[in-house]
Amino acid sequence: MKVPLFDLTRQYQSIRSEILNCIDEVLKSGRVILGPNVERLENEIASYIGVRYAIGVANGSDALYIAVKALNIGEGDLVITTPFTFFATVSCITRNRASFIFADIDEETFNVDLNEVEKILQEHPNKERIKAFIPVHLFGRTIDLERLENIKNKYGLKIIEDCAQSIGSEWTYSSGQRKKSGSVGDLAILSFFPTKNLGAYGDGGMILTNDEKLAEFCKVFRVHGAKVKYFHEIEGINSRLDEIQAAILRVKMKYLDDYHRKRIEIARKYNDHLKDLQKNGFIVLPKVEDGFGCVFHQYVVRVKNGLRDSLKEFLKQNGVETAIYYPLPMHKQKCFEKDGLTYSFPKAEKACQEVLALPMFPELLDEEIEYVSSKILEFFKGV
Ligand SMILES: Cc1ncc(COP(=O)(O)O)c(C=O)c1O
Repeated sequence: MKVPLFDLTRQYQSIRSEILNCIDEVLKSGRVILGPNVERLENEIASYIGVRYAIGVANGSDALYIAVKALNIGEGDLVITTPFTFFATVSCITRNRASFIFADIDEETFNVDLNEVEKILQEHPNKERIKAFIPVHLFGRTIDLERLENIKNKYGLKIIEDCAQSIGSEWTYSSGQRKKSGSVGDLAILSFFPTKNLGAYGDGGMILTNDEKLAEFCKVFRVHGAKVKYFHEIEGINSRLDEIQAAILRVKMKYLDDYHRKRIEIARKYNDHLKDLQKNGFIVLPKVEDGFGCVFHQYVVRVKNGLRDSLKEFLKQNGVETAIYYPLPMHKQKCFEKDGLTYSFPKAEKACQEVLALPMFPELLDEEIEYVSSKILEFFKGV
């Protein structure tokens, strides 16, 4: 049997006529960039997340870059983030000529450790230059939003939530209230890269905020900084969401919560098949809770005892595609060497050695989950 890590074609088959219709409507209308579908999608996503404004842009990386710019962060400013993330979370800081400070991760969730963040805010020698914090809800798991809000208020820190992997994920407050990731930061960003939980058939991204002025800045910045065409108030960039992608995303939005539920169910099934391996200390499984605490953009296990790469190879030999998110932490990236990063983040480094993402997408079949799990069990029988 062959099991792909991700397969876009199965979902397409289930919504094909709706997708083809919506593309046809856009092409018939002749409006293909920043038109009514983008505006409607912005409104629909803003109300889904629980924020006032949403601004569609060309991709999640631009969304991050523009969000940092909107906060007027630049040379001499410091921004805290995680070393265990996708490159764009960090490059949005350096592309704005600011510098990053990394905080190590929490071993269980893979998300940034908020204790480490507070330690930096209290003890860093240049703490007065720290302007913002970019938490990432990695693999679809929400960080503690209640604590994030407390940190934001206590330290007067600007927050940009990187929700590229977490659209729709939630945190339950001690009061019982639930909030979605992306609704707490001064700004938040989404990515619509095709593999994301809400994926386009091309690139796309979005910026979220409750602040009217920040929203206005982002809206103008995405069209070369011109509120009135050809009259440029700020030096913006071209970062627009196109109508075809927006129309496609509007179709998929209707099914998003259902897709989340399917992902969570798949995670639960993997956990059930693999629970004995966790008991015996071979692997560590991700926690599956009720609700959307984690929307399982990825299903990532830790493989202990230095066996990750040989398990990956064994699964490959047996037709199972897997991936390593991420093989190298951000503080060890060659392009950041000039920043003189000599320190280490042991938990992020260990995660890079141990993580393995198994096939995960809503249309994954039960027999595929069983096959992948049986091959993993077979591998550990042999060690
Ligand atoms: C955590 C994180 N941040 C940012 C991005 C950037 O999004 P995009 O690929 O749409 O530029 C991604 C997407 O890969 C991501 O996973």
